[in-house]
Amino acid sequence: MSHAAFADSVHVRAPGKINVFLGVGGRHDDGYHALATVFQAVSLYEDVIARPADDFSVTVSGVEDIDSVPLDDRNLAMRAAKLLAVAVDHRGGVALEIRKNVPVAGGMGGGSADAAAALVACDALWGTGLSQTRLHDLAARLGADVPFALHGGTAVGTGRGDQLNPALARGRFDWILVPSEQGLSTPVVYERLDLLREEEGALADDPPLSLDVPIPVLQALRSGEPVQLAETLFNDLQAAALHERPDLAETIRQGVAAGALQGIVSGSGPTVALLCPDPETAQDVQSSLRETGLDPLHVHGPVPGARIIG
Ligand code: C5P
Repeated sequence: MSHAAFADSVHVRAPGKINVFLGVGGRHDDGYHALATVFQAVSLYEDVIARPADDFSVTVSGVEDIDSVPLDDRNLAMRAAKLLAVAVDHRGGVALEIRKNVPVAGGMGGGSADAAAALVACDALWGTGLSQTRLHDLAARLGADVPFALHGGTAVGTGRGDQLNPALARGRFDWILVPSEQGLSTPVVYERLDLLREEEGALADDPPLSLDVPIPVLQALRSGEPVQLAETLFNDLQAAALHERPDLAETIRQGVAAGALQGIVSGSGPTVALLCPDPETAQDVQSSLRETGLDPLHVHGPVPGARIIG
């Protein structure tokens, strides 16, 4: 039993992510697409505080569109706590307090970070002390991006994105993130990709690219050189996200004009991630985009996955 058992509360912090490379293959029978992706965890965090309770409950703060975050069983952190309770035969519940910073439905895995943080927090609060492997298995049952939020750093994801292998990344990469007021639905963006591919004559089960992460992406991460990584940024979902939100192309253009090396839609969007050569240039890009009425954030990666803090 861990020392945290019977604590009054456990506070866990989990990062949002950017997919620096996202190759999407065909759709499988389970509705998921085969992926080859590289995740990078960035310094924009979800905080989850777990306290003992008889029932399961969730409160959320930190975002303007708070009404869009469900507080029932549709909430991924709630589902994580209940899944863990069943897995370890925990009697009783938990009160989860979520403090959000990652944009809601922004393509940065905010809900997945909540779920990963809830798993780690409840495991500590209840003193169940599960191994990383068992936590990973539970995470994968909650959603394709949840294992990475546990893991953090930089990692290659295959399968649905949930089969992870660490990738060596040197140094620090500075990103400007441009969140949108309106989120995008991940399933809608994947469906749009299928439609666009059908229009192009590709079969839905006929992957248009070999599903490997190209070597130059891994070399760029190892080099720690933002200029190299900028040349390899790629997202198969970008065309689909831009179809839903054509204005994002202009945000990328503005970011590059202001000094960013390259811009990309993060995951299924609509958050735009602009890779900058250094922290100073990132600040310039941030100021410049602010003048156009956007609300850009300066973050860096890689950072660790879900961790107990305090
Ligand atoms: O796993 P998660 O709940 O985040 O996925 C949300 C939706 O995104 C899935 O229901 C599916 O429609 C789509 N998706 C997909 N292929 C993946 C990951 C997600 O089609 N590899």
